[in-house]
Amino acid sequence: MTDRSLEESPPVIAIDGPAASGKGTVAQEVARVLGFHYLDSGALYRLVALTAQRRGIELSDAQALAALARGLEATFDGDQVILEGERVTDTIRSEAVSQAASRVAALAPVRAALLARQRAFRRPPGLVAEGRDMGTQVFPDARLKIFLTASAEERARRRYKQLMDKGMRVSMSDLIREIAERDRQDRERAVAPLKQAEDAVLIDTTSLSVEDVVRAVVERYRSRAS
Ligand code: C5P
Repeated sequence: MTDRSLEESPPVIAIDGPAASGKGTVAQEVARVLGFHYLDSGALYRLVALTAQRRGIELSDAQALAALARGLEATFDGDQVILEGERVTDTIRSEAVSQAASRVAALAPVRAALLARQRAFRRPPGLVAEGRDMGTQVFPDARLKIFLTASAEERARRRYKQLMDKGMRVSMSDLIREIAERDRQDRERAVAPLKQAEDAVLIDTTSLSVEDVVRAVVERYRSRAS
């Protein structure tokens, strides 16, 4: 890609961070405020994991999982996730699917299979993309890169509330353990590990409200865009 074509690509705001750091809520709200498209890249890994579980594909079978990822029949309708015509928005949020998603996400062929699909979300007037490698791998030329963190306790508390609101029963101690395990897996994997891009802005959201974080991101974006 030439510098010129990069300049002409619709702008991207990349928001990365560990599990339950508030990326999803913040990214959706920033997209709404700016009138941008929104990509929940984690949902794609979750959909691959769910489909693999349903079809009985081993989570270590990289080639079968990559083929599945390439053929994934998934659509996003607002905040709803549709898999082969079925609404699976809540199903993909279970802890079992979260863990399986983190395992399939460690496989290079699966990541490669999902790359073009993620980049296709970049359309005018712009895109807010959230995940683990938006700023490092998928959109390295993003106009603004944000890395969100929060303390482990605060992240577990947020995920607990999110799951309970969806009517899913979980124990807080299981959740703390599972989030820590998923973060370890995501940080230590060889391909596209979770890490802050060098040019990303770090925001610790532990004691910030969603509104505070959204305002900070939008202000930074506007100051760069003008
Ligand atoms: O963001 P979310 O928690 O829904 O992501 C589920 C899992 O998908 C993560 O734990 C991570 O392993 C994987 N993922 C990834 N790269 C992304 C987004 C998610 O590896 N860009």
